[in-house]
Amino acid sequence: MAGFEDYEQALTGITSGYAFADGVTPKVPYSFMGTIYDDERNLLLSVLDQEALTMGPQVGAFESEFAGWCGAKHAFATTSCTTAMHVATQALGIGEGDEVIVTPNTFIATTLVILKEGAIPIYADIDPRTFNIDPENIAKKITPKTKAIFVVHYAGLVCDMDPIMALAGEHGIAVMEDCAHAHGAEYKGRKAGTIGDIGCFSFHSLKNMAMGEGGMITTNRDDLVEPIGLLRNMNITGWGDKDEDDYWLPSHFDVIDWNGKWGVNYRMTEFQAAVGRAQLRKIGELVRLRREHSHYLTDGLKGVEGYVTPYEPPDYHHAYHLYTLCVDPDILNRDEVMRDIYYRQQCTQGILHYQPSYDFTGIKKYLEERGYGGQFCPNADAFFYRREFNLPMHPRLTREQLDIMIEGLRAAADRAA
Ligand SMILES: Cc1ncc(COP(=O)(O)O)c(C=O)c1O
Repeated sequence: MAGFEDYEQALTGITSGYAFADGVTPKVPYSFMGTIYDDERNLLLSVLDQEALTMGPQVGAFESEFAGWCGAKHAFATTSCTTAMHVATQALGIGEGDEVIVTPNTFIATTLVILKEGAIPIYADIDPRTFNIDPENIAKKITPKTKAIFVVHYAGLVCDMDPIMALAGEHGIAVMEDCAHAHGAEYKGRKAGTIGDIGCFSFHSLKNMAMGEGGMITTNRDDLVEPIGLLRNMNITGWGDKDEDDYWLPSHFDVIDWNGKWGVNYRMTEFQAAVGRAQLRKIGELVRLRREHSHYLTDGLKGVEGYVTPYEPPDYHHAYHLYTLCVDPDILNRDEVMRDIYYRQQCTQGILHYQPSYDFTGIKKYLEERGYGGQFCPNADAFFYRREFNLPMHPRLTREQLDIMIEGLRAAADRAA
């Protein structure tokens, strides 16, 4: 068994938290827990009394409740948003050499599922105000090889979907919404995950609703029900549908291919689904708290020269998965501000999301090998390297913690000016 020191070291890993082995313990650390639990404890234990811990009543109920809540016709639970997006990529028929237009301002998962099918990510730049993929830049990147557009509703603000869907319609290409940040986010009265061809949600520990890991695929397209069902579950079909007198002859299921694609086991457990159902019942309140905390921060930072607080266009409902504070690089140095709040004041902790995906070593190599090297998006580059940082944001924040963050940020700006 690992010793305590090893365990502490493990906590510094990217999958465990944002505690770094530098002796700094900020008063308001960046939390790896995005939600609040209460009923979940008992629900979790009650699952142990069920007949089965997978493919049981919790998953089925969670899927239909999630579909009902977000206004999608169909929902399919998975092991993560990454696996949800992998199924989506396969179900949309994306394969070898196809081009997929995607934002560089995302967790690497959105690109990895494209690579997994041998397709090519083509990065379209972001809007510097919303940090979301810019429809005008998408239009410039469409070629006859473009098969799909993968958008990410960064921080919980939905992308400008009307022009994106219009472009997709014009060119006959599909749209996948990466809704990992966007449970409860809305665009012109429609929920994230119901506007494109497929939506993919995450229930990772940090997310607006969380079960540690988990994912959900949403779609309004009836023709995607069969491929998604197959690809999520090892291409298995006809479970128990046999006509023979003896149910076990010749087998109680069949395996078919779907368009040359093969799925593996991406099924959610009954434990995750039971917790997910409880989380879904309070997602409105969880997002309300995030919005309230975010507005409080924005009010508290008003008038500080050099900070640019998050933008929420009219007719959008921002879910504030992240609170992204930008600096005006002509006035403030982002890294100096981050050093001040973290090392000097030890009041709070900023985290950067996201290094443009095309900048990672493996992605560069993949693109270069296929003649797609040298991709660069100036707005995404400036955003990550000079402008942005994300402050702790989750529903459990207290007024006192928010005030500590505001005071620290104000002091840092005063010193840096
Ligand atoms: C934008 C985005 N997409 C996809 C993912 C992947 O989600 P999961 O961890 O559920 O696979 C994340 C998770 O951090 C994310 O932030």
